[in-house]
Amino acid sequence: MKIIAFGVRDDELPYFQKWSQQHHIPVKTVKELLTTDNVKLCKGYDGVSSVQLKPYSKDLITQMRNNGIKYWSLRNVGIDNIDLDAVKQNGIKLTNVPSYSPDAVAEFAVLSTLRLIRQSKAYERKMRVGNFMWAPNIGKELHEMTVGIIGTGHIGGSALKYFQGFGCKIIAYNLVKYPEYQDYYVDNLGELYAQADVISLHVPLTNDDRHMIDDDAISKMKDGVYIINTARGELIDTDALIRGLDRGKIAGAALDSFENEAPIIQHDFKSFAAIPDAKLRNLMQRDNVLITPHVGFYTHTAVRNMVYSSLDNNKALFDSNGQTAPSLLKL
Ligand code: COI
Repeated sequence: MKIIAFGVRDDELPYFQKWSQQHHIPVKTVKELLTTDNVKLCKGYDGVSSVQLKPYSKDLITQMRNNGIKYWSLRNVGIDNIDLDAVKQNGIKLTNVPSYSPDAVAEFAVLSTLRLIRQSKAYERKMRVGNFMWAPNIGKELHEMTVGIIGTGHIGGSALKYFQGFGCKIIAYNLVKYPEYQDYYVDNLGELYAQADVISLHVPLTNDDRHMIDDDAISKMKDGVYIINTARGELIDTDALIRGLDRGKIAGAALDSFENEAPIIQHDFKSFAAIPDAKLRNLMQRDNVLITPHVGFYTHTAVRNMVYSSLDNNKALFDSNGQTAPSLLKL
């Protein structure tokens, strides 16, 4: 078997090389993301490994199949950017990595929460100009707060446990109620919004939850709520978020993922003014908003697991003639 991997970063490369040597399977690595411009490189390979937040269109997927690809293994968990009908129609077997390091993202959610409630961004700004005064940036204490976890999958479950360690009151919402979190579940999102001081999002993006945090949802939240998004930008209606921040309803927001981030993240615009998104620039200028470029996942542990699991999945698909793999998606 032969695998081709797209969008391979320098920090991933040693893991690809090690896996390839250990399994005696050639893996060609390509720096560029998989697009219709380079899809022809797939010819002669059995499987593809890729990671990206940009869309995988029907056209691209059809061209993958036309170039002989039957097995496609993502190095990430999210599949919201993939035309899944096209994957199915083309008979491609798709795997993701549902749990490469839930702790990486969960730790980042906690970090972001603490940075927000202790106003760390304001201090960094003040100290850069020599101001070491305390006021007015007095903090709040996490253990006195109620944290609402939306989504109790791998990452949300891990976040729940971490927040619990701070002594917070935890409430949670998930469509499916898992027995291990039964003590935390509220019946509906309205209940969670009404009680939570901090709301942390850990759900995948689907057509049902796009803009779940809109004006209506925000109006049901407590005054002075903090919103943490380490999941997908499109879960939040950015205009509604800005309105909520402007009127002080929302005390702060930490967005590791933000709307329309695909053309922004992993780009160096060289200056603040050159960032091609006015709403993002607006948010970035606020002391009570933390923007980070989708790095919650980005740890050595996670990157290693993403590469190894993707390649293991791809090999399993090949070995079983497409029948099975640890994370084969049912489409
Ligand atoms: C995911 O695993 O879906 C992420 O959000 C990480 C990113 C590298 C795509």
